Amino acid sequence: MPNPVLTVLAGEPVWPPPVWLMRQAGRYLPEYRALRAKAGSFLELAMTPALAAEITLQPIRRFGFDAAILFSDILILPWALGWGLDYREGEGPILPRFRSELDLCKLDPTRLQTGTAPIMETVDRSRGALAPETALIGFAGSPFTVACYMVEGGGSKEHAEIRLMAHREPDLLDRLIDILTASTADYLSGQIAAGAQVAMLFDSWAGVLSPLLFERFVTAPTRRIVDELRRRHPETPIIGFPRLAGARVGAYAAATGVNAVALDTGADLKLTFPTIPPQVATQGNLDPMALVAGGLALEREARRVLKAARGRPHIFNLGHGVVPQTPIEHVADLLRLVRGA
Ligand code: CP3
Repeated sequence: MPNPVLTVLAGEPVWPPPVWLMRQAGRYLPEYRALRAKAGSFLELAMTPALAAEITLQPIRRFGFDAAILFSDILILPWALGWGLDYREGEGPILPRFRSELDLCKLDPTRLQTGTAPIMETVDRSRGALAPETALIGFAGSPFTVACYMVEGGGSKEHAEIRLMAHREPDLLDRLIDILTASTADYLSGQIAAGAQVAMLFDSWAGVLSPLLFERFVTAPTRRIVDELRRRHPETPIIGFPRLAGARVGAYAAATGVNAVALDTGADLKLTFPTIPPQVATQGNLDPMALVAGGLALEREARRVLKAARGRPHIFNLGHGVVPQTPIEHVADLLRLVRGA
């Protein structure tokens, strides 16, 4: 049986569309919470291949999604290079703040391979346990989004610090982004070599930048990663997710050379699809809160996505990650609806 996710990423429509959900492994699943409680910390879970592979497979066993996504986090990369990282319950990630040229020395790309060896083992174990018709997606944060967490010292609503740095000290931010870009290409290349069949770049905060800065700090580094991966792994498709990029998504797809773009919740598909190059696949963009609500609201939103996506290469997904309060029955309802389309 051909792998429907890979077929769509090759530019061919499949109906009903293949489906997986961003953050499909995580706290809304009781089996995840049980393992999480045993492991003690999120980093412990992510860095123990037997546990991380088990969590990667949990949503596949329960729901039979068409793709599994490596269980890890976008902040593992800077952490493997030597940057501090702590996950606090209810607060999200906490990192030391990146402030000056001196901080650049705290990132050591020679540590990448050893530091991420457990991740590669997780990829290998996960691929070995999956059926051929389920695609395994490897991922990384985009350099800009990873830099956001480093410069802000964690999550942020306004991203004032990094936006200010981008205007006031663009050369400093360039140097940080350059290190992250080279390491991200190596990191994704390692995941592909270990068995990931798709590489996804999460750029959760791409849209907070002005158009000029978007080109410099989002589009250009993404293009460099895509070029490098194409050189090393010409057959492996790449999905870009420039969240909040609005009307810039089509230009991002064309300029970066990604095989697919993930569309966020706010993207109006009727307006957005015509701006995407025809050979570029799409993914998204159901509101994660419609999945929490369930019932008629969920059905209406899911049917809107299905109707708009019919006839184009599209992977059914959310516009952002599954949230912890999502009832698992609603996920089962959604899969029934998509597969009955
Ligand atoms: O199932 C999957 O999608 C795979 C695993 C995955 C995680 N994080 C696990 C995780 C993926 C793909 C990510 C990506 C990620 N991480 C992004 C990009 C997507 C997005 O949501 O915008 C970002 C910005 C992060 C950074 C991050 N990691 C935050 C902001 C948080 C705290 C908030 C939250 O959602 O928990 C994390 C922690 C994190 N990453 C958890 C998980 C399962 C929760 C850890 C726990 O169990 O306590």
